Amino acid sequence: MTRTALILVAAGKGTRAGSNIPKQYHEIGEQPLIAHTLNNIRKSHIFNEIRVVVSSDDIWIDGVLESLDLFSVTTLGGATRTESVRAGLQSLVNLGIEHVYIHDAARPFVSSPMMQKLSEALKTYQGAAPALPIADALKTLEGDSVDRDQLQRVQTPQAFHFNALFMAYRDHAKTTSFADDIAVARKAGLSIAFTPGDPDNFKVTYPEDFAKAARMIDTSYIATG
Ligand code: CTP
Ligand code: MG
Repeated sequence: MTRTALILVAAGKGTRAGSNIPKQYHEIGEQPLIAHTLNNIRKSHIFNEIRVVVSSDDIWIDGVLESLDLFSVTTLGGATRTESVRAGLQSLVNLGIEHVYIHDAARPFVSSPMMQKLSEALKTYQGAAPALPIADALKTLEGDSVDRDQLQRVQTPQAFHFNALFMAYRDHAKTTSFADDIAVARKAGLSIAFTPGDPDNFKVTYPEDFAKAARMIDTSYIATG
């Protein structure tokens, strides 16, 4: 078995979601959003280690520690997502980790089939991420058309050979901030594959996304009895 770890980045402020606490701790169906994400991650049973990267500002919020049970070790994050991921990678050094998956706490509907496809891709590539085609027409702010066939929407989890990503962060992401981990991997010249994404695996970003996530959780509770 490949020794595999997951870093769940949860040190953001959730500014766009406009909640009084960071979005990952906003309660949905009586549990913080991040607890739903962790539950879905655990269903895949491929992880030997899970690291939750949190902000030191947040650990005093009621319910935060309860939502992160004892199986998930926490690490303190930084001011940018890039810094938070680096802290997570650093916390996994010397544990013999071969593959690492990095996931946004704000994407509760991550699924085991998605993890399986990433794991398959890592047999051939150093990194992999789920991606979706774009259905809408794309325009610049001036209104000029952009060829959507050349573009895709990329989600998390993003999966990598641990040493390759660790060195990519060490050599290319010390001072710059990157939108995601594929961006750091590309900068370092790693080989990358894209696997099928899932529209349900959306990132809770704006205020209306809480209600959307709550509806989806309700429906799945009914479906599973
Ligand atoms: N994240 C993090 N550390 C940061 C910034 C972001 O761990 N310094 C995490 C967030 O907690 C989230 C994921 O990265 O799970 C994706 O980031 P995003 O959706 O942008 O979350 P926020 O930065 O919290 O939201 P916003 O940009 O609206 O403030
Ligand atoms: Mg952000």
